[in-house]
Amino acid sequence: MSGDDTGDDTLPVRRRVQDLATGFRGAQVLFACVELGVFDAVAAGPATSAEVAAEVAADARAVELLLNAATALGLLHKAEGRFRMAPGAGELLVRGVPGAIVGGIELQSAHYRRWGHLADAVRTGRRPPENARDEAPPDWIERFVRGIYATALPLAPAVAASIELPRERDLRLIDVGGCHGAYSMALAERYPRLRADVFDLPRVVPVGARLIADAGWSGRVRMVAGDFQREPLGSGYDVALVFGVLNGEPREGHPALIRKVFGALAPGGWIVLRDAVLDPDRAGPPEAALFALQMLLATDGGGLDTRDDWERWLREAGFEPPLPIEVPGELWGSLVMARRPAA
Ligand SMILES: C[S@@+](CC[C@H](N)C(=O)[O-])C[C@H]1O[C@@H](n2cnc3c(N)ncnc32)[C@H](O)[C@@H]1O
Repeated sequence: MSGDDTGDDTLPVRRRVQDLATGFRGAQVLFACVELGVFDAVAAGPATSAEVAAEVAADARAVELLLNAATALGLLHKAEGRFRMAPGAGELLVRGVPGAIVGGIELQSAHYRRWGHLADAVRTGRRPPENARDEAPPDWIERFVRGIYATALPLAPAVAASIELPRERDLRLIDVGGCHGAYSMALAERYPRLRADVFDLPRVVPVGARLIADAGWSGRVRMVAGDFQREPLGSGYDVALVFGVLNGEPREGHPALIRKVFGALAPGGWIVLRDAVLDPDRAGPPEAALFALQMLLATDGGGLDTRDDWERWLREAGFEPPLPIEVPGELWGSLVMARRPAA
């Protein structure tokens, strides 16, 4: 039995399964619109599907189907045969609009391809070779860094506003795996006496340096090339950000990096950890449990932790008990700060 009017009490599960089985279609509508530049064309003014098709150089009938589907999904509005962006959607989906997350959506589109190999990854317990090859093209790093930057940029001011640091003295910050420097720049904005070293792999440094220069922060925020698995981080820092980095490391690398950061901090300095965090039973929240699978698909051995894992590793490294920090508007990340005891 099935259907809304049959009194079938399995309907919620049936609906959930149905939604899971078909959710990929909505994601592809979004990705295709971004890839083709449909939102950019529509944003220029209410446009017919024929006008959009001409603008994006695609088949007129197919573009009409795509625009209708995007309308049904709430991304566009259609009136008298003309399409425009739905309220609020243009701010997110149109290239070049400050705060738009187009680069982040392109990154998700790359993840989509990787998720197609999930059963293989689970069978072998390893990142599928196709997924590693995804990262081979020469522009992969540029796209990866810009995608993460687009995701971080709207969050960074709220994250910076949640991190309380001394104002009355100079501060040296290291942004471990800082990539694009968005969080360092937001903290530099909040704390005028703060200077930041954004520590990342050599291949990331030129892209990050360009983003920092374009944002006008090269004076106080600089990229530093290094590999935290093999090289020292430096010493004497007042603050160390470790954001979105532990999830890409093999499990034993998590406490090792926390210990290394302890050594890089001056007495009284702060580590700030930010990542998706699993519930104690590791079976939720959904975004974190799914993200843990994404790390199986995208890294060699990466994975997520629980808050208890963090607390234990911080304590074992010598930090004082960590403070959880609420970031308004944070969708799925957890942020904690812990202090290296003053000498
Ligand atoms: C997911 S990104 C997080 C970027 C940024 N912190 C954020 O939260 O948006 C992880 C970053 O860690 C860097 N990374 C990974 N392994 C590294 C290593 N061994 N040494 C230095 N950086 C590394 C990557 O290049 C990447 O920029």
